[in-house]
Amino acid sequence: MTPPEAPFAILGIESSCDDTAAAVVLSDRTILSSVVVGQTDLHEGFGGVVPELAARAHAEKLDAAVERALAEAGLGLRDLAAVAVTAGPGLIGGVLAGVMCAKGIAAGAGLPLVGVNHLAGHALTPRLTDALAYPYLMLLASGGHCQFLRVEAANRFARLGGTIDDAPGEAFDKTARLLGLGQPGGPAVEAEALGGDAARFAFPRPLLDRPGCDLSFSGLKTALLRARDECVGRESGLTWQDRADLCAGFQAAVTEVLVEKARRAMAISDVTAFAVAGGVAANATLRAGLQRAAHEAGLRYVAPPLALCTDNAAMIAWAGVELFAAGHADDMTLGARPRWPLDTAAPALVGSGRKGAKG
Ligand code: KG4
Ligand code: ZN
Repeated sequence: MTPPEAPFAILGIESSCDDTAAAVVLSDRTILSSVVVGQTDLHEGFGGVVPELAARAHAEKLDAAVERALAEAGLGLRDLAAVAVTAGPGLIGGVLAGVMCAKGIAAGAGLPLVGVNHLAGHALTPRLTDALAYPYLMLLASGGHCQFLRVEAANRFARLGGTIDDAPGEAFDKTARLLGLGQPGGPAVEAEALGGDAARFAFPRPLLDRPGCDLSFSGLKTALLRARDECVGRESGLTWQDRADLCAGFQAAVTEVLVEKARRAMAISDVTAFAVAGGVAANATLRAGLQRAAHEAGLRYVAPPLALCTDNAAMIAWAGVELFAAGHADDMTLGARPRWPLDTAAPALVGSGRKGAKG
């Protein structure tokens, strides 16, 4: 089917981790609605996202999220040009729930179906928010992934480097758990770090001594655990100040390695802009460090608003707009993929963020 010339509307559906989301976005970049229903309470007692619980909650909440997104957009199914849905990577039960929901809508309303890579959704967000032209460099840092990408087209990405073990969001979440803070860990650790001394604990700066843009975060988690246990051993418990200092030190270490590796990625890229996306890109200290690095490299810096950095369906709808406009559509054989690398030519990294919920 040829996409219409005038602005067209796409319904986006996202359910690859613990947020059930639906959104309607126009091809002229207007976000008509963006509904995100979280599941934090559901997983709170388990110390992480429980895939089966997440999948069931998605299956229960998707219909209502879609209805709300359409109602808030003031549109009906017949006003849509296509339905876009996250088809991976992610927790397979949740992805399946989204794909089945999208297929049902597409079949029932006679609409084209567009399967979207969740990571492409994050990676294309700067084009939705800032109309960034291809190619651009970006850091995608979330709970399950971390990579530097040269974004060349809606379905063409070159990976310059990435994590060889855990994702930074996972490390933030683990840190929060080790220190008795709530989930998701990133915002909790960031808030705690505000009152902390980042210099008190000497956390490692993994892989900074090695060339290239690859990253590692698993050692930092171990270092944090050790520092915590030392405090507990010395004082028979953690003081408020210990906790704040641990958070500040951890955040500083993550920021320093990400900013330094970003500098290296910028140095080898022939682009004019650097963008960030993914949940970890909501971190203010990291955002400020990356902004400084981009400006020093003479690059335009784009950081989407926080609500579009963390998981949402507007980014999936937008990726759908781009793919649909390029003539791409799927059929009822569209499958759900737990793994789906953006750069299929790049060699798989050891671990490559596979331990996270989105791994
Ligand atoms: O992109 P996202 O919403 O979901 C995935 O695709 O993973 O990212 C979620 C991750 C979580 O690990 C969360 O702790 C982290 O992003 N995060 C943050 C912040 N806000 C969310 N990490 C650091 N600082 C933040 N302010
Ligand atoms: Zn994500």
